[in-house]
Parts: sequence; structure tokens; C-alpha cells
Amino acid sequence: MPPEDPPAEGNLIYRQSIWTRATHWIWAICLFFLVLTGLQIFNAYPKLEIGIESGFEYDNAVFEIGARRIDDELQGYTRLFSQEFDTTGMLGVSNGEPRAFPAAVTIPSTRSLATGRVIHFFFAWVLVGTLAIWFIASLLNGHLHDLLPRGAGFRALGRDIADHARLRFHHGRTYGALQKLSYAGVMFVLMPLMILTGLSMSPWFNAVAPWLLDLFGGRPTARTLHFLVMLLLVGFFAVHILMVLASGPLNALRSMLTGWYRIDPAPEADAASPDRKED
Ligand code: HEM
Repeated sequence: MPPEDPPAEGNLIYRQSIWTRATHWIWAICLFFLVLTGLQIFNAYPKLEIGIESGFEYDNAVFEIGARRIDDELQGYTRLFSQEFDTTGMLGVSNGEPRAFPAAVTIPSTRSLATGRVIHFFFAWVLVGTLAIWFIASLLNGHLHDLLPRGAGFRALGRDIADHARLRFHHGRTYGALQKLSYAGVMFVLMPLMILTGLSMSPWFNAVAPWLLDLFGGRPTARTLHFLVMLLLVGFFAVHILMVLASGPLNALRSMLTGWYRIDPAPEADAASPDRKED
């Protein structure tokens, strides 16, 4: 529930509930640890494959990071399908040592698959719990309804994309069409895919629901999809931060910290969200 007395500063509205705000920051922390421990786990077997099985006798890698010795020098390489790139110093070899992802982007920074896995699974369950809380709260307080672009919101998509390209941002009562689409894509496509591909690699879950691994076409394929979804989430995060910075970081951050958001004076606020709800 919004506090009784809004700040006496004109067109500030209470836009983000405590559930939206608290869960958002918890999953931001979770994703930070999940990505960096995930890279530690990847380093233990730095290959992504497609298929039901993998091993020495298979040649089904679509991505690989490795190291080889040439004339007494270690060379790092990254292979994507049949294309190979020299990535010495970044991927494959860093600080003179063979290592897929460098120490700077793994947790822990030293090589420890066991520690990486413990931290990864801990934050994975915190993320699942937080997403469940977000989903139930958003269903009950109507936020879910606000997040799904429909009708006039969809029709405004073209104009919204053009406005974003010209760095013209509207500040309405609810998110714009493009924002809704990207947030809905994260919450209803990427996050569920991340969790399902993760679960399908867990031996206990295979015993409970073997069909899930079959659905993803085997463990190597599920692992590759899990990695791909991670890349998409990292890509979303980079654009997300750029958009927050470009659209007015103080206003956006205030809304995600206190709930209060300054909207444009009418009629521009109306034009931004034709399908907005009146609070
Ligand atoms: C430190 C990093 C982050 C910052 C500063 C940040 C900032 C923000 C802000 C200011 C908003 C509100 C935007 C608005 O009102 O127009 C927002 C919403 C959102 N952010 Fe982030 N964010 C961060 C990390 C992340 C991460 C890692 C994800 C997930 C991959 C994420 C996903 C979302 C989603 C889905 C929403 C909409 C939430 C809802 O309405 O329920 N954010 N973020």
C-alpha cells in the first residue's frame, strides 16, 4: 500500500510497490552471483555441445574455449562452430595460465568447482523463491496486468521504438510498450527458461521428471541453452542500465528504491502509455 502522504512535489506518483522493489534488488544480487559462479562451473568443462551425450568420442561442440602450447608459448583460443579466434590474455589463457574465463569474472576467483556449485545452487533457489513471491504479489496487486503489453500498448510499439532510438523518453504512470515487452520477455521467457534448463541438468530432478531433459534434447543441449539464456540476460542487463542512465537515472532509481516516480506533465504522459491504468 502506498504511504498516506505523498511528497508535496507536484506530479510524483507511487509507481512501484514494495514487492516489486524488494524482489527486483534481490534478483539483481542473485543474478550477479549466478553469472560469476556459472562461469566458474563452465571453466571446469569449457565447451558447449548439442546432443544427448558428450565425451571424447563425440564431435558436437558448438563453442569451446581452450589453450594450446605453440613454440613454448601458451595460446588461448575461442572456437564458435568452425571459426577459431586467438583470445590469449582474455579467454583460454590469462596471466600466463590456461583458464577459460579469467579469475576477474569468476566466483571464487581461484579454481574451485565445488565452491562455485554451492554458491550457484544457493542463489538459484533464492532467485526461484523471489520470482515466486514477485509473481504472486504482482498477480494480487495488478502489476502483472500492467506488465503485459496489449491492445493500444502494442500499437504504440513502433512509435516507442522510434522514440527510444532518438533518446526521447516518456515518463508515464506505467511502463511504455517497449519496456513492457522487454520486462515481460525477461520475466516470462528468459527466467523460466533459465530455471527449467538448470533443473533439467540436476540428477535428482531427472529422477523426478525425466521428461524435462528429453524436452530440451539432452544434457549437453540443456547446458548450451542455459549458457545462451545467461548471455541474453547479460545483454538485457547492459541495455537496461544504459536505458536507466539515458532516461533519467535519479527518477528511475528513486522509483525502484522508494516507489515514487515523477511523471511527465499531461498530455505527454498520456501519449506515452495509451493503455495505462489510472491509479
Ligand atoms: C544494479 C543493477 C540494476 C539497476 C540499477 C536496475 C534498475 C532498474 C530500475 C530503475 C527499474 C525501474 C524502471 C522504470 O521504472 O522505468 C528496473 C526495473 C526492472 N529491472 Fe532492473 N536494475 C538492475 C538490475 C536488473 C537485473 C539484473 C535484472 C534482470 C535480469 C533486472 C530486471 C528488471 C525488470 C524485469 C524490471 C521491471 C520489474 C517490474 O516491474 O516488476 N534489473 N530496474
